[in-house]
Parts: sequence; C-alpha cells; structure tokens
Amino acid sequence: MRRPVGIFDSGFGGLTVVRRFFALLPRESIIYFGDNARVPYGSRTQEEIQPLVLEVAQYLVGQGVKALLLACNTATAAALRVLREKFSLPIIGIIEPGSKAAARLSRSGEIAVVATEYTIASGSYQNTIKELRPRARVYGQACPLFVPFVERGQLNGRELEAAAEEYLSFLAHTKVDTLVLGCTHYPHLIGIIRRVIGPDIRIIDPAEATIREIKLVLEQDGLLAPADALAQHRFCTSGDPEHFRRLGQQLLGFPMEQVEQVPMGD
Ligand code: DGL
Repeated sequence: MRRPVGIFDSGFGGLTVVRRFFALLPRESIIYFGDNARVPYGSRTQEEIQPLVLEVAQYLVGQGVKALLLACNTATAAALRVLREKFSLPIIGIIEPGSKAAARLSRSGEIAVVATEYTIASGSYQNTIKELRPRARVYGQACPLFVPFVERGQLNGRELEAAAEEYLSFLAHTKVDTLVLGCTHYPHLIGIIRRVIGPDIRIIDPAEATIREIKLVLEQDGLLAPADALAQHRFCTSGDPEHFRRLGQQLLGFPMEQVEQVPMGD
C-alpha cells in the first residue's frame, strides 16, 4: 500500500526516529507532524496531553495515513490506549519496544531510564521493564531542561553539559549497565550524554526496536509499500515552518524542501 505512515512527536524529537525509519523502510512515505507550537508535552498532566495528541492524530488520520507511529514517549505514555480505542488503524508506541530491549540486554539487572517529567512520573518504563524482568532494578530520572535545548537547536555548550552532569550523576552510585533514552529528543544529545556517562554503560535508543516493530506490523497487515514505490515525504509543524525546516534538516541529516504549517488548537 502506497499510503504514508504518520509519525508524530511534540517537536523535533521524532526526527531521531525518522532517521531510523528511512534506513529500514526506504520505500515508505511519511507525514511527519511536530507539534512545536505546544512543546514541551513532558511538563504537562495526562489531562492536558491527551487532547493534544488526539487532535494531531485526528489530523494525520484525516490525511489518509495507513498507520500511526508515536515517535514520542510522553504521548505514548499518556495517550496510546485512548488512541487505540478511538482509531482502527495500527498505532505503534515507543515504550514497549524500548523496554523489551533494555530488559533483554542488561546484564547487571540495573537499568536507568531518562525521560520527561511526565514519562518518569507515569511509571510506564519502570512498570513495563519490571513486568518483563521482575528482578530488575529500574531507576527513573527526569531531565526537563533537555527538550528546550534541542528545540532551540543548542546541542552542546557548558550550560547543557552542566545539566547533563547533574541529571546523570546518580549513575555513579548504582550498578546500572543500561541507560534507556526514554525521550526521542535525547538521541540528539547523545554526544554529551556519552561523554558524561563514560564508555561502559550501554545506551538504548528505543527507536531502533520500534522501527523493527512497525516493519513487522506493516508486513503482517499487508500494508508495506510495493517494491516499485518511490517514497515521498511531507513535514508538518504547528510552529514556525522556516525554523522547522532549518533546524529539522540539520537534525535529520536530510533535506526538507518544504515544511507545511498546520495550526493546532486556538
Ligand atoms: N520527545 C518527547 C518524548 O519522547 C517529549 C518532548 C516533550 O516534552 O514535549 O517524550
């Protein structure tokens, strides 16, 4: 089926997922939606996040997407269940595939998750990992300053490094051998994160397992694009389209010819 896959994030974070999507599913077309006018989601409550996610999902479904990929952990934690109740197309979240990878790969059984305040407070990663591996010890750490840095396009510097050092200092007192980047914005900061934690802790980007999962779902449901399909992508933002195009293509590493502005809310 040639129809596009809808990929959704509150802002630029989902582009870390798109990068992997393009690598594994080069024939698939996408419509990416960044809700940059309303980012960050992670400091909001579930009652606030759900309507935002529903509104964007409604838009993407209205554009005829064949499946929806929530390239946002916060949206997955807050709204995956209600989305699946409301829409009949396949909807893939990012938390379960990431948790499975962490539960499988950790040797010490001590796993840390860094994510937004909402995702950590929801306990979604902690609970999912512990269901899969009951004896695991899971640490959750919110890093609320990371998303605004990425949205501004500030990917290094003293201030960011100091924030990373503070957020990640707890690792020194644990036996954590596996760190899950539980927010799609954070892989944009992987250079700094790796520098701060050193070489010995494995970093898991849940996007990798999530893209394998969506490939499987498209295969099983007979939704894959045919062998002669030429991928065509659309990028939409609720924010400033020129800022999205400039920073977005730098973060993604692919040119974006045009970015559509799609206003959300009032
Ligand atoms: N990128 C999103 C995530 O994976 C959240 C960023 C935000 O706070 O809006 O959780």
